[in-house]
Amino acid sequence: SERTFIAVKPDGVQRGLVGDIIARFEKRGYKLVGLKMVTPTKEKAAEHYQDLSSKPFFGGLVDFFSSGPIVCMCWEGLDVVKQGRQMMGETQPLASKPGSIRGDFSIDLGRNIIHGSDSVESAERELAMWFPEGVNEWAKTVDAWVYEP
Ligand code: GTP
Ligand code: MG
Repeated sequence: SERTFIAVKPDGVQRGLVGDIIARFEKRGYKLVGLKMVTPTKEKAAEHYQDLSSKPFFGGLVDFFSSGPIVCMCWEGLDVVKQGRQMMGETQPLASKPGSIRGDFSIDLGRNIIHGSDSVESAERELAMWFPEGVNEWAKTVDAWVYEP
């Protein structure tokens, strides 16, 4: 089954949004298989956002992402990479619809509270980075009511 890497960024942790974000993924029906708080080093932050290293905002992004604890999650389920991105909203809060996480809780592009993998390949790379120890395999019995057999 598909997995994605979701992180509540330092602003989301400071603002007390961790519980709400977890609740949304849980209520949607996804399975939580990895969860931990980490304070990223600048090196880890730069590696995480390596695809953006040529952008003018890269330095600020790395400083921000390593400025305090983040909450790292691995969620599993049908189409969770794309669905997770939909639940987050757009990169730009102004373009994020109310009802989405960024649309409900953020205003500024550089403080958009949540990260989510943008493809299955990115998810694999990011999960290997943030969960090198692996995640938790468990059978979620309610799945019988979430998925058609
Ligand atoms: P993440 O889930 O954090 O990866 O966001 P994203 O996939 O929606 O956007 P992207 O990967 O392109 O950019 C990563 C982060 O960099 C965004 O979430 C923004 O916080 C920030 N960012 C992106 N574009 C800009 C920009 O033009 N200016 C500034 N200041 N920040 C930007
Ligand atoms: Mg991204």
